[in-house]
Amino acid sequence: MPIHVRIFLPKHVHQVTTVEQECGLEVWRAQDYVNMLMNDTTFHGLVSVLEDSPGAPSAATGIGWEPETGMTRVLGFIAGRIVPPDAEVYKLAVGRAYRRQGIGSRLMEEFLDMARARRAFHCYLEVRRSNLTAIRFYRSHGFSGCRIRPLYYANPPEDAFVMSRREERK
Ligand SMILES: CC(C)(COP(=O)(O)OP(=O)(O)OC[C@H]1O[C@@H](n2cnc3c(N)ncnc32)[C@H](O)[C@@H]1OP(=O)(O)O)[C@@H](O)C(=O)NCCC(=O)NCCS
Repeated sequence: MPIHVRIFLPKHVHQVTTVEQECGLEVWRAQDYVNMLMNDTTFHGLVSVLEDSPGAPSAATGIGWEPETGMTRVLGFIAGRIVPPDAEVYKLAVGRAYRRQGIGSRLMEEFLDMARARRAFHCYLEVRRSNLTAIRFYRSHGFSGCRIRPLYYANPPEDAFVMSRREERK
């Protein structure tokens, strides 16, 4: 079955929280996601899904819509906010079985495209200092470390590494 990137919608929330759990990320309450998706116009998310019949690309976003019928399985997601000229990645995760296949990269690039389309050219994020895989991943997408936020995380307590990426306005 083909893998597609779709706009994160309330119907994906349950599977997104399952991916969060599997990946060891802090799990947000499903209702909080629904509230952000419905009410916060700065919140933007994408999901990578396996689905049995493809939808057509939307003229508005260029990202495909999802067929109403058929099976959809969320393999990974990215969520963040875009407030031009800045964009912030809150979370990015891909289920263990689907890693190293370019899914994380596609989600990241499509999120950056959405930010660019809204004139947000500076993107930043926080990552646990010990998460060397994610740090390597973000570096491969042009992010570099700019500072440490001491004890930013709880459970377990750990410093955050703040990474950012800036591109030329076109
Ligand atoms: C970080 C994460 C999203 C990457 O997703 P992915 O789909 O595996 O990433 P990609 O396949 O697109 O990898 C792109 C590049 O990132 C780097 N990379 C990714 N995983 C890596 C690993 N385990 N070791 C070394 N480099 C890695 C490589 O440069 C890779 O390119 P390559 O495969 O051509 O060598 C995934 O590992 C994940 O979900 N981790 C757990 C959750 C997390 O830590 N999220 C980030 C904090 S919010």
